[in-house]
Amino acid sequence: MAKKLPRARELWKSRTGLILAMAGGAIGLGNFLRFPVQAAENGGGAFMIPYIIAFFVIGIPLMWIECAIGRYGGARGHGTAPAIFNLIWKSPISRLIGVLGLWIPLIVVIYYIYIESWTLGYSIHFLLGTSPELAIGANTPDEFLKPYSNFLGTYLGAGEGDLLSPSFMAYFALIVTLALNLIILLRGVSRGIEAFAKFALPALFIMAIILLVRVLTLETLSGNAIEGLNFLWTPDLNLLKNPGVWVAAAGQMFFTLSLGFGSMIVYSSYLRANQDIVLNGLSSAAINETAEVVLGGSIAIPAAVAFFGVAGAVSIAQSGAFNLGFVSLPAIFASMPAGQFLGFLWFFLLFFAGLTSSLFLIQTIIAFFEDEFRLSRTKSVLITMGIIVSSIFMIIFVNQTLDEWDFWAGTVGIVFFGLMEVVIFMWVFGGEKAWAEINRDGTIKVPRFFYYVLRYITPLFMLILLVWWGIELLPEELEKASWTIWAARAYLVMLFVVLAVLVFMADRRRNRENES
Ligand code: ALA
Repeated sequence: MAKKLPRARELWKSRTGLILAMAGGAIGLGNFLRFPVQAAENGGGAFMIPYIIAFFVIGIPLMWIECAIGRYGGARGHGTAPAIFNLIWKSPISRLIGVLGLWIPLIVVIYYIYIESWTLGYSIHFLLGTSPELAIGANTPDEFLKPYSNFLGTYLGAGEGDLLSPSFMAYFALIVTLALNLIILLRGVSRGIEAFAKFALPALFIMAIILLVRVLTLETLSGNAIEGLNFLWTPDLNLLKNPGVWVAAAGQMFFTLSLGFGSMIVYSSYLRANQDIVLNGLSSAAINETAEVVLGGSIAIPAAVAFFGVAGAVSIAQSGAFNLGFVSLPAIFASMPAGQFLGFLWFFLLFFAGLTSSLFLIQTIIAFFEDEFRLSRTKSVLITMGIIVSSIFMIIFVNQTLDEWDFWAGTVGIVFFGLMEVVIFMWVFGGEKAWAEINRDGTIKVPRFFYYVLRYITPLFMLILLVWWGIELLPEELEKASWTIWAARAYLVMLFVVLAVLVFMADRRRNRENES
């Protein structure tokens, strides 16, 4: 019997569309919520120096590597890490490492989509005027923020116990968010994801620019927004001696550019076999950095500094990952003229940013079912969404699961997987071959200097990060021993095992097909 040819895979329709889809996969909650918190916690200007270095040493190199791996696999009928790693290095080890390229985006999207739904729930509250009342006559920042922190607590159903009991709006917004993701994904890569990105990204930039202009013209009794920009752009070089600042900057670079998830590989597999990746990768990364540094950096921090001063803004950032975005900013907006509209705009901006990224993460798992089990688009989408929906209860109800999953998958996991990608591509595939593959059909040529960065400096930087985490964070992490933490960990292991079994089943299936 003749060998079955790989099923025709969808491709991006236009160059603008693919750049916007990739940029949309990168631009997310990380740009507007995580970046300001990380920058404020790590000294503002002092954070920006390692951040910019990380862009050149990790961001751009890894973007090219993931794009090259994806395009290489796509031309051979495979879009996901386990199958492409197996093309490069035929071994169960490569497939097992590849499982991480499914596991990480799956775990992250299960909690990410819930946070995304809060932004929708909050936008609806601001639109309907059911957001909290302003604390008139508040004398301290704590009093001023109290109604908003209580509101977040009620929204998420946080109480004393281990279990959470969210509000009606939390369920409603989650259902709408899941449904929107489902509808767009059912339409496919170019008619769904690409078409949505072409509309969502310009809309997101417009919303952010309106907020930015409003924030930068902010004057209060305690200060103005320009002091916030000074804080972000005046480095205190002394802080650079602290390795924690470097680690935070590198971690943010991974998260914001969506590197080390395995998902950029999947998006790149929809490039044509002879399409440029050097300039396309660079353009997507540059759009993400503009959204992060220019827009993300000029809204939350300057607004918080104008209201609470630099020390106040820093202490808000340190008090919890969501306090800046879900407590301080809405309180600040609500106290301005047209506050309700500004609050709505802030959360709707976050919702669009989150949506383009959740589509990106979910598409990874869909591609696995489509490519490796030859399932139809509809079946693949439904199975993937089924897995997400049936796992999300862990995040909604079991306290601390979100942080635990974010630590293993969204913090350490992405750096570990990023390192594996570099090793497999630049070392196992071979340095010169990989270099030629990156530059093949490129609109511009990458300077040779980057060859050495990709081969030596990028992996070394990541190795140092992992060792530092192993020494600094792991002992503290392993001390946590409540039942909720153990349940969260057990679920992580269970999902890994399920995905690994599927990957090995797909491999057997492929071998049988090749033999017949
Ligand atoms: N890169 C995505 C974000 O920043 C995951 O949210």
